[in-house]
Amino acid sequence: MNKVPDGYRLVLTPEQIREKVREMAGRISEDFSGQVPVVVGILKGAFVFLADLVREMTIPVEVDFAQISSYGNETKSTGRIKVMRDISTPLAGRHVLVVEDIIDTGHTLNHYMNELRQRGPASLRLAALINKTERQEYAPGVDYLGFTIPRGFLVGYGLDHAGMGRDLPGVYEVTGAEG
Ligand code: IMP
Ligand code: MG
Repeated sequence: MNKVPDGYRLVLTPEQIREKVREMAGRISEDFSGQVPVVVGILKGAFVFLADLVREMTIPVEVDFAQISSYGNETKSTGRIKVMRDISTPLAGRHVLVVEDIIDTGHTLNHYMNELRQRGPASLRLAALINKTERQEYAPGVDYLGFTIPRGFLVGYGLDHAGMGRDLPGVYEVTGAEG
């Protein structure tokens, strides 16, 4: 059985992603030089990107995770945001880097970044692998961006389609899916 289902069109190869993640990690390491940032991954999708990103970084970091739901198993944002699991690291006075897999409408990050900002971090920045610009309603201000892919429903490298496909090493567009 093929691991990549029919109807998945490759849009980012593992090599393209690796190169981009290295470049982003280099910039982040320079910008946070001399600091120990708290890297906050947004579950579940960011787990692959975060794992690769922090290992390419040349500075020490702390890692924590939050899980925020807005989608359920649908491919369209409901606009209803719920923090299912919050980080446990206090952020007051800390330099914080939020790591997200993909930004679509921007609702999720807009909500959670505002919440984090109220905890008094010394700085709060955002790294996202993909910005899906076509339906953006809130522009959360991405400090470190991997790729802009205007539309389409994407799967792989942490991104799922109804729970599946997170384990694929490349990013695919699900052709025929509502994006
Ligand atoms: P937003 O709140 O509309 O920006 O949605 C962001 C969240 O929706 C991300 O954290 C992803 O988990 C999910 N998402 C948005 N677009 C896609 C996609 O194309 N594939 C998989 N998940 C997506
Ligand atoms: Mg998701």
